[in-house]
Amino acid sequence: MRNPEIALCSLSRRRVAADRIDLAAPKLECHEGAIDRQCGAECAVMSGGDRSRRREAALCSADFLTEAPTVKIRPYTPADREACLALLRSNIPEHFSPAEEAELARFLDALPGPYFVVEDGGRLIASGGIAAERDGVTATLCWGIVDATRQRSGVGTELLEHRLDVFLRDNPQIRQLQTNTSQKVQGFYAKHGFIVVEVRHRAYGPDLDHVRMVRDRPPARERS
Ligand SMILES: CC(C)(COP(=O)(O)OP(=O)(O)OC[C@H]1O[C@@H](n2cnc3c(N)ncnc32)[C@H](O)[C@@H]1OP(=O)(O)O)[C@@H](O)C(=O)NCCC(=O)NCCS
Repeated sequence: MRNPEIALCSLSRRRVAADRIDLAAPKLECHEGAIDRQCGAECAVMSGGDRSRRREAALCSADFLTEAPTVKIRPYTPADREACLALLRSNIPEHFSPAEEAELARFLDALPGPYFVVEDGGRLIASGGIAAERDGVTATLCWGIVDATRQRSGVGTELLEHRLDVFLRDNPQIRQLQTNTSQKVQGFYAKHGFIVVEVRHRAYGPDLDHVRMVRDRPPARERS
């Protein structure tokens, strides 16, 4: 099933609201503001300027937008176990060491808090959870994983926001969030307001540091 309200920029893979794009136009044009900033700038330059680049511009605009498949976030069920392990495997060795597959399996078999999966056309493309710590005021983000072929397209952010929306709404006592991640991914959490408080070099593997990051509970309005 396709979602008629969302279109996908085929260059950046970012989603944009379809009502900002004239899908009925014979050729999809690159309207400033209707598409991702980076592509918008690129395509505006290509179609507006240099004649020698007209062909590229035409190709670019013809292939510019495709409808986005429906992406759905829902709670994990045991039937998702193997697909979640496959998500982790898709990130070995870049982001996880092989030993972590058994750790994830144990985690899934005894979930300490809510765990969610992201489905795209029936296929699992990401998963992630969150759990309260014993101190009663800290929540830890657990095993946030996006399929290696689907990273940097906004899925991780949507899943993070969903986890926080659901969990913080039900747990008003939580004051602080933490994540145990690696040096390769700390930039993602930094973009979401987390700061590094501890680094254990090579703790997760020969090329993987353990980086602990924290942030205060975001105010509700930041999570609209
Ligand atoms: C980390 C992860 C969950 C992020 O999800 P994602 O869908 O790729 O991220 P998004 O597309 O939502 O990115 C949001 C922003 O973070 C940035 N970002 C994403 N991954 C990043 C990384 N590894 N390093 C630095 N910045 C990163 C993006 O560029 C984007 O920035 P922008 O808004 O300025 O464009 C995902 O890449 C992943 O699963 N990585 C491998 C597994 C892993 O290590 N998980 C963490 C275990 S705690």
